[in-house]
Amino acid sequence: MIPHQVRLVEVGPRDGLQNEKQPVAAADKIDLVHRLQAAGVREIEVTSFVSPKWVPQMADNTEVMAGLQRRPGVRYSVLTPNMKGLEAALASRPDEIVVFGAASEAFSQRNINCSIAESIERFQPVVQAAHAHGIKVRGAVSCALGCPYQGEVSADEVERVARLMREIGVDHLGVADTIGVGTPKRVQRAMERALRHYPLSEVSGHFHDTYGQALANIYACLELGVATFDASVAGLGGCPYAKGATGNVATEDVVFLLQGLDIDSGVDLDRLVDAGAFISGVLGRKPVSRVGNAVLAK
Ligand code: HMG
Ligand code: MG
Repeated sequence: MIPHQVRLVEVGPRDGLQNEKQPVAAADKIDLVHRLQAAGVREIEVTSFVSPKWVPQMADNTEVMAGLQRRPGVRYSVLTPNMKGLEAALASRPDEIVVFGAASEAFSQRNINCSIAESIERFQPVVQAAHAHGIKVRGAVSCALGCPYQGEVSADEVERVARLMREIGVDHLGVADTIGVGTPKRVQRAMERALRHYPLSEVSGHFHDTYGQALANIYACLELGVATFDASVAGLGGCPYAKGATGNVATEDVVFLLQGLDIDSGVDLDRLVDAGAFISGVLGRKPVSRVGNAVLAK
């Protein structure tokens, strides 16, 4: 039975913009968040408290968080790879934090400069401190379907990290296809392994759309009963440490799919398309979302 309701986590302000080489003003990032929440998005990944040397675009994290006019009922999350990130993030009062590991050793090294085992050791105090402040913790498992450095990644490797994340108390697990190479059956196999350690309500899919499979992969997850997905308005996104990977699945495309399936996401498609057009205009390009462009062309 596919779910009747889906939670969408909008990652455009974070995943969508982190890879942009041109500076994007904090005021525009804040404006984007405001437009997204006005469109009915209830979960927004706003920024990252990572090293500005590693990801310069997120260096304005505190300013962006401080500029938000928060809406009741909206949850604001931020990425925190270590205690330094968490301590900096706490002052911004996030509702959730995200620790991000990987199913591939090579990607773990390239993205966060440590092995998988070391990353889990680093995350443990972050999870404890977040919980002590009443903050929920999501864990992302990058390269769950393939790695730009290692190639194939097995479901066993995904399960290993899912188990480790569970052991240190991570509340929710995101299965991430960083380079968008997953196809539905393989995605289901990876998800099923995550579901051995997490309940359906605490597992999500994060699909980059490099090979155009993201919507099919979301449908494959819906068939399993998974009801939380990350998506990025206007199809923005990419990881600076995953060369060639394109943006996340566009939120507009996901909302259109869900509408067709009579699944409620609470998001107003027209307002979302406007938010996508706004940020694409700031970046000086057309939205990548097919639905966004189709709606704009009407
Ligand atoms: P490191 O160099 O090993 O860290 O980086 P370190 O502890 O040795 O510290 C080195 C310097 O960084 C020091 O400064 C620290 O203070 C500073 P210095 O003394 O040289 O001036 N530093 C920090 N500064 C600000 N905030 C911090 C922080 N930590 C240390 N939190 C580190 C390790 C994890 C920090 C680094 O590798 C890093 O920042 N990586 C982040 C990479 C990243 O953000 N990638 C993109 C997000 S993940 C993603 O996109 C995937 C996802 O979308 C799912 C998917 O699609 O797969 C989630
Ligand atoms: Mg991503």
